[in-house]
Amino acid sequence: MTSFDHHRRPLVVGIGGTTRAASSTERALGFALRGAEAAGAKTRLFGGTFLHSLPHYAPENSIRTDEQLELIEAVRHADALIIATPGYHGGVSGLVKNALDTLEELRADERPYLDGRAVGCIVTAYGWQAAGSVLTSLRSIVHALRGWPTPFGAGINTLETRFDSVDTCSDAKVVDQLATVGQQAAQFALTFTAQAARGPNAARDPLQPAQPARLLHAV
Ligand SMILES: Cc1cc2nc3c(=O)[nH]c(=O)nc-3n(C[C@H](O)[C@H](O)[C@H](O)COP(=O)(O)O)c2cc1C
Repeated sequence: MTSFDHHRRPLVVGIGGTTRAASSTERALGFALRGAEAAGAKTRLFGGTFLHSLPHYAPENSIRTDEQLELIEAVRHADALIIATPGYHGGVSGLVKNALDTLEELRADERPYLDGRAVGCIVTAYGWQAAGSVLTSLRSIVHALRGWPTPFGAGINTLETRFDSVDTCSDAKVVDQLATVGQQAAQFALTFTAQAARGPNAARDPLQPAQPARLLHAV
């Protein structure tokens, strides 16, 4: 695995899990975050218990709880993210989607939503069908939030793969896949932070507009 040689370690924020104490989704996310750390990133995990403490996101409400603000601030400062959801009835779980809806609070930022951030995507499900279709749904959500889904996303069939503890997985191939998700998110973050460190006067790609379009809700 490659290591970063950079003055600032990128921050990779993990969001995911379920309300279950032994959540395989959260454990899978932990493996991916350790992959990001092995590639040189620092990480922060918002797991199922934390996500359960978030109120249902209400855009018309101007008062946010401490937990909502904690999540918003962490994502605001993140260089990359990893999102892990179970497939619930063919879609992203409400728990994870509510956390993502809360990121609406980033709409007016200099970097709106997940702009300029790589996002690793992980799905667990009781079968390959939901693992694949929900991974596609999750990537569409990331696109809507202006994030960059990593090339490799992990779909895990939890009828075949067990996570008996936070650092135990029955399938070494799945461990490798999760590490790859974390590694790709961290490597992309390094590339973006290095570009930002070169500053606004760095040579610009002539095919890119001078100012990024500030379209909201474009997708
Ligand atoms: C409400 C609910 C809906 C579910 N819907 C699906 C589904 O549509 N397809 C599927 O393959 N698995 C489905 N599952 C199974 C979960 O995706 C699977 O057990 C997942 O690994 C749970 O993650 P956890 O261990 O982190 O709780 C569902 C589970 C629950 C509780």
